[in-house]
Amino acid sequence: MGTLNYIKNFFRDKNVASVTPSSKFTVNQVIRRVVTDRPVTVIEYGPGDGVITKPLLKAIHKESTLIVIETNEDFINQLNQIDDPRLKVYRDTAEKVDEIATNEHIPKADHIISGIPFSFLEPDVREELLTKTLDLLGEDGTFIAYQTSKHLKPFLEKTFSDVKLETEYRNIPPMCIYEAFGSK
Ligand SMILES: C[S@@+](CC[C@H](N)C(=O)[O-])C[C@H]1O[C@@H](n2cnc3c(N)ncnc32)[C@H](O)[C@@H]1O
Repeated sequence: MGTLNYIKNFFRDKNVASVTPSSKFTVNQVIRRVVTDRPVTVIEYGPGDGVITKPLLKAIHKESTLIVIETNEDFINQLNQIDDPRLKVYRDTAEKVDEIATNEHIPKADHIISGIPFSFLEPDVREELLTKTLDLLGEDGTFIAYQTSKHLKPFLEKTFSDVKLETEYRNIPPMCIYEAFGSK
């Protein structure tokens, strides 16, 4: 069902950018980078049908908060079916993350996770979103992004002081997993 759903949405909405959800190996690569032994605030850009959101809710502390921001209506309908009081679903663009965080009274996040296709964003929009992302992270906060190419690394390095990149080959196509920390 997951892949059929992505194919259908891919042809209707170019921003979906993938004909298949992230593999379970990519999902694990993201979740293992998240703190799970204390309450955390997590923001997810581009959750799609919730392929990461659902296992993330299983993994994080029961007093955590997870805010997901997704543009695609069909995916929003699926995300709205997840019954978990810790989850807040926004149909909006990740570029509005600062307004959404203010609305949710969230001064800082522990992790921001992103699957949105950064290569589709205009350079100024991309830079502004990365700056907003850094500004929203607490002192030990991390930005975890997964993309199918290495193009994001230099842009992350302009904003964050430390950027790590690992490739998960058990994904079609192979997935670059970025983890960025600290202010430049
Ligand atoms: C490559 S898919 C990733 C979906 C899912 N998280 C996964 O791991 O398979 C990218 C997702 O980001 C959403 N998206 C694209 N641009 C966005 C934006 N600017 N703000 C929020 N969501 C966006 C798309 O609708 C799509 O669901």
